Amino acid sequence: MPPTHTTPPTEAVTPLVRGVTVLRRLTEADGSLSLSELERATGLARSTVDRVTATLARMGYVRLDGRDAFLAPRLMELGNAYLSALRLPALLGTHADALADTLDESVSLAVADGDGIRFIHQATRRRAMSLSFRIGDLLPAERTAPGPLFATAWDEQDWARWQVRRDADPMDRCFLAVPPREDPAAGQDLALRAGLAREQGWFLDDQLIEPGLVALAVPVRGTDGRIACVASVVSHTSRHSAESLRETVLPRLRATTGAMERELASAPRPTDEAPAASSTPPAPSGLASWTGESKRQIGREFIESLARGLTVLTAFGEDRDELTLSAVAEATGLARATARRALITLEHLGCVTARDRSFRLTPQVLALGFPPLSRTTLSSIALPHLAALTRRVHDSASLAVLAGDEVQYTARVATSRIMNVNITVGTRLPAYPASLGRVLLAGLPAPARTAWLAQAEPEALTAHTVTGRTELAAVLERAEHDGYSLVDEELEEGLRAIAVPVRDGAGQVVAAVNVAMHSSRRTPQECLTDVLPELRSTVAAIEAELHVTGRFTRVPVA
Ligand code: PHB
Repeated sequence: MPPTHTTPPTEAVTPLVRGVTVLRRLTEADGSLSLSELERATGLARSTVDRVTATLARMGYVRLDGRDAFLAPRLMELGNAYLSALRLPALLGTHADALADTLDESVSLAVADGDGIRFIHQATRRRAMSLSFRIGDLLPAERTAPGPLFATAWDEQDWARWQVRRDADPMDRCFLAVPPREDPAAGQDLALRAGLAREQGWFLDDQLIEPGLVALAVPVRGTDGRIACVASVVSHTSRHSAESLRETVLPRLRATTGAMERELASAPRPTDEAPAASSTPPAPSGLASWTGESKRQIGREFIESLARGLTVLTAFGEDRDELTLSAVAEATGLARATARRALITLEHLGCVTARDRSFRLTPQVLALGFPPLSRTTLSSIALPHLAALTRRVHDSASLAVLAGDEVQYTARVATSRIMNVNITVGTRLPAYPASLGRVLLAGLPAPARTAWLAQAEPEALTAHTVTGRTELAAVLERAEHDGYSLVDEELEEGLRAIAVPVRDGAGQVVAAVNVAMHSSRRTPQECLTDVLPELRSTVAAIEAELHVTGRFTRVPVA
């Protein structure tokens, strides 16, 4: 979206404006910039960039590594607040996913964002042939199938704003998710297409974004008759012409949007009966003391007003889509005057809208990191935590997943000690004699574990390997009960390792983390007293980020 050049209102909180600017520039740069690049991209002084990034790092929104700043998974809590307040992904996502499965084509949901469209859900079929958009990506309305449908509701002001944007940015350079517009006149007929979209009730994108990409879109209307979002089926000309997409897919897409509309009509709206303020669940509590503590710990570098301002966004959520100033103050624990200035600033920045004394989040909240972070993998979440663990215990730390009868390493931070030099990312080892394998097998649903045991043919790899099925069953039960597994020289003489499971937001074991060492380094008892607590806090930190990241996106574990 073209930058807004309007000057901030006098009450605006300058550090909050700067913090949001830093997050936007990092998002546009696909998630990372060096601090000097950030200085150039934001026009801020280096000392300001340092303080803003230090504050964002303290919040877990940015990770600093040498001279580089990276967006960090916890930042997704801001986009999550918007998506949960919006409710559409939770209510309609499974319908979109089911349609994608039936058609074996990608299906997306998009909302209107100014004169653009922004994705709020993606059921993506991975195909190399064309671009695939991410949750939070913004596209110019006139180059998409949903655009003309949304434009049916535009008033004169909306059309004028659209024209100003097109004139100011004839190549669509402000829309980083799409290739540049080659013909500046392309899309100028949007009004004509909006007329057609109104008549037909659907619209086709015949390669408006890039050659080969075709999409068919149908609106999903709320009970007020307005378009709540648009569902699109996206394909490639190697599988569908625009024409065949309409012929074969339109009836099914319409059936799905019909089901989506019934879903919206039957979804209870608790806020209709009870004002949000009275149904306020516990706040992102202790904010005042948390920011105070941060200030004490990192001193002048920590900008309290930035941290507080961003936290205002997390006051919103499911059944908290519309909040009064008092509700925001109550939820965040901020003084009314502080909350008010933060809201005014966020409104100026386009992240919040105000109406009738209450506030809502806008789709622009997704521009704070969501698109690049929505592609985060469990390995990338784990890696910095494994590195920190290795620094603390001075032994190698690894992340692995179960792959059939084996564990597969997906992330690893090794010490320089000469041991296991042949274990790298991708290495597979038998699961039954490995600490990682044992917590992964212990985390299988009971029938799967029983089935695994029935077919397992464990061999002795050392003099210590447990090979009996009954004994292994007992070992797995113990690992499940204890929440860890300590394996002593069963995989390799001289190798001792201790592992802990990693659970997703639903409580399912999806991976495991271990620390492996030479048996002369620590006794088994020392592993429990010295390493296990470190391992557990590492996994708690990984899980916290995984749960934030996995709330509206699927996080690949391998
Ligand atoms: C998409 O979801 O990738 C998509 C949707 C509509 C379009 C183009 C792409 O017009």
